Amino acid sequence: GNWHAADIDRVIVSEDQIREKIDELAKQVGTDYGTAESVLLVGVLKGAVMFMADFARALGRYGPPVEMEFMAVSSYGQGTTSSGVVRILKDLDSDIAGRHVIVVEDIVDSGLTLSWLMKYLQSRRAASVEVVALLRKPDAVKVNVPVKYVGFDIPNEFVVGYGLDYSERYREVPYVGVLRKGVYAQG
Ligand code: PRP
Ligand code: MN
Ligand code: MG
Repeated sequence: GNWHAADIDRVIVSEDQIREKIDELAKQVGTDYGTAESVLLVGVLKGAVMFMADFARALGRYGPPVEMEFMAVSSYGQGTTSSGVVRILKDLDSDIAGRHVIVVEDIVDSGLTLSWLMKYLQSRRAASVEVVALLRKPDAVKVNVPVKYVGFDIPNEFVVGYGLDYSERYREVPYVGVLRKGVYAQG
């Protein structure tokens, strides 16, 4: 249904914009990894599920063979701000030593999740580790996290949709929008 429209203040990135940007990013990554034997996409559950699925398909049109792994880490819990504590909820299933790894993230906000994750993947002796993130917030630019591929720089507002949740909801919303304050304001 269209129930979610009432909870969204305004659309930040539309379905069409997402589709076009993913194609653009995949072309870029496909070119950069053109000589690699394969790339290993590491999707960060749960937020990256939509982006991972669409990006992997797009990369399939332009790049070398793709493999997929998933990790689940959580830094937000049920709140709207990052706690700074990263927990591994699901680890990699296979050895990534010598692999060209691309971390697939829906959003980089404080950058805490990603800076922790990159160190972790490098410690597993990946041949290379880069990041593709659909969205980036202003704070992430201050932190020294090298995000090579970014879809959209967005304002510092609480956004949901296309994988991004508030308290596990709104992930299925097909676009990225600002959540109406009344939905999460206290009292
Ligand atoms: C969200 C988002 C990123 C991370 C970004 O995940 O999907 O993974 O936070 O925040 P940061 O840059 O401040 O670390 P979350 O922890 O909410 O888990 P989820 O993907 O399961 O929603
Ligand atoms: Mn996440
Ligand atoms: Mg979340």
